[in-house]
Amino acid sequence: MIGCGNMGGAMLRRWVASGVLAGDQVYVVNRADRVLPEGVGQGRDLPGGVLPDAVILAMKPQQIDDVASRFAARLAGVPVLVSILAGVEEAPLAARFDAGAIIRAMPNLPVAIGKGVVALDSASADAPARADVAALMAPLGLVEWVAAAQFDAVTALAGSGPAFLYRFIDALAVAGVAQGLPEAQAERLALATVEGAGLLAAAAEVGPGALADQVASPGGSTRRGLDVLDEANALEMLLSETIAAATRRNAEMAAAARG
Ligand SMILES: NC(=O)c1ccc[n+]([C@@H]2O[C@H](COP(=O)([O-])OP(=O)(O)OC[C@H]3O[C@@H](n4cnc5c(N)ncnc54)[C@H](OP(=O)(O)O)[C@@H]3O)[C@@H](O)[C@H]2O)c1
Repeated sequence: MIGCGNMGGAMLRRWVASGVLAGDQVYVVNRADRVLPEGVGQGRDLPGGVLPDAVILAMKPQQIDDVASRFAARLAGVPVLVSILAGVEEAPLAARFDAGAIIRAMPNLPVAIGKGVVALDSASADAPARADVAALMAPLGLVEWVAAAQFDAVTALAGSGPAFLYRFIDALAVAGVAQGLPEAQAERLALATVEGAGLLAAAAEVGPGALADQVASPGGSTRRGLDVLDEANALEMLLSETIAAATRRNAEMAAAARG
């Protein structure tokens, strides 16, 4: 793994904790030593010897040229290269790295607890390589293959989604405080409500839209609140604009990476 900060570290911890990888099967190339799962080696340079089975790029997108200039020649012919770099498409990766298969992966932070989303895309990977990478990602959460053209949107929805949900939880708590709840209690209630509602929705046989209507009896208080969110599709409009703005930014970053 090249680069191992917040996201690379979250993935690595979950891989080792789930047993899909043993610590000593992984070597991290980082700029400074970090606390890593037991058995994981680390250093400033690639270890010598045979090529690894796979390389995972997990540094910042703007570090791609530096990493390519240092390591691409020595990694030539690596069977699988997985990149989690936001906004860097397969072609710029292929222009810099000679790998049997290049797979883009877009994880989100809940991978740390096995409840994340990992979107995958590859034009170059054959069926066995796709199956191997999907199996590696499986302990991280929901794994979905998406079309290359949808990668910016999936990055906005699932990659940035946790941040949008955190804002929602915060707003729910602030709204509770406005109705007289103590701040700390409102935060606890908002967080537990979102956690429980999410788990329930994930296990339900109907979709969340239908669930909301099931919870709201006609003339009741939940209905009255939903009416505010539904008025002129207020919440849907707000989130459409939110996801569209993030998608556009991803597309801009992809265009910049193309050069
Ligand atoms: N965070 C998210 O929610 C998220 C979601 C999806 C995808 N991503 C992608 O994940 C990647 C990493 O993001 P992050 O949030 O984990 O960033 P981060 O915490 O800043 O981690 C980046 C890591 O890469 C290392 N690094 C930087 N330049 C390097 C180089 N030239 N050689 C080797 N290692 C190098 C950094 O080392 P130092 O600490 O020593 O600088 C650090 O360990 C990004 O490409 C991002 O687009 C992130």
